[in-house]
Amino acid sequence: MYLFIGTAEDCDKKGALEIVNQINNKPDTILGLATGSTPVGMYQNLIKLYRDKKVSFSQVKTYNLDEYVGIPREHVCSYYYFMQENLFSHIDIPAENVSLPDGNAPDLEKECSDYEERIANSGGIDLQVLGIGHNGHIGFNEPNTPFESVTHLVDLTQSTIKANSRFFESEDQVPRQALSMGIKTIMQAKKILLFVKGADKADIIHKALKGPVTPEVPASVLQLHPNLHVYVDKAAAAKLK
Ligand code: PGA
Repeated sequence: MYLFIGTAEDCDKKGALEIVNQINNKPDTILGLATGSTPVGMYQNLIKLYRDKKVSFSQVKTYNLDEYVGIPREHVCSYYYFMQENLFSHIDIPAENVSLPDGNAPDLEKECSDYEERIANSGGIDLQVLGIGHNGHIGFNEPNTPFESVTHLVDLTQSTIKANSRFFESEDQVPRQALSMGIKTIMQAKKILLFVKGADKADIIHKALKGPVTPEVPASVLQLHPNLHVYVDKAAAAKLK
């Protein structure tokens, strides 16, 4: 495991540079992407590097980790909308190259297996961006999700609904379900970049990286990944030193 500890700004910068190097080495890179507040600064650095002509996304394909069930794509809280706002609309990635699970598909189970198949058929994810939830979730893989899970329909836990309600007008507007890559889907990525920020994540990142590997802490599975790069800001790294 490669572990970088620095300011949040340094994590964003170095993480973005690592992704740009990946794309410059393999212009048709398959990226796995994440939403949430953590990667926003890193995405801003990617946009800057694109504007400075250090990288082109014209051949890149992306697969997002997850999407809510039952809110329209145009909803300001959908992950599709988030990705357009925070990355896709600012770079030269062709619209047909970006994928998120479709939380409005008529047959959600089929959408999950199709999504998994599309990732595999594209050659698999070269580099997956990840954040971590306070309960150790990765994507929407909540505690006790089997490590063998692939893309699936998830009932969100009360703690995740509460955490995500900050983006909605009220807690009862937060969708109760989502589609998420599974833990196995994530672990199949050739490289994983995990970003962790803030004092409120100090406990969980310590547990995930230093504690036992257990489905109770989904992110602990990352200890088993052969190519894990972790970018932790100083506040979140309080217990790692
Ligand atoms: P956050 O979410 O980046 O908004 O803290 C991370 C997650 O829940 O996976």
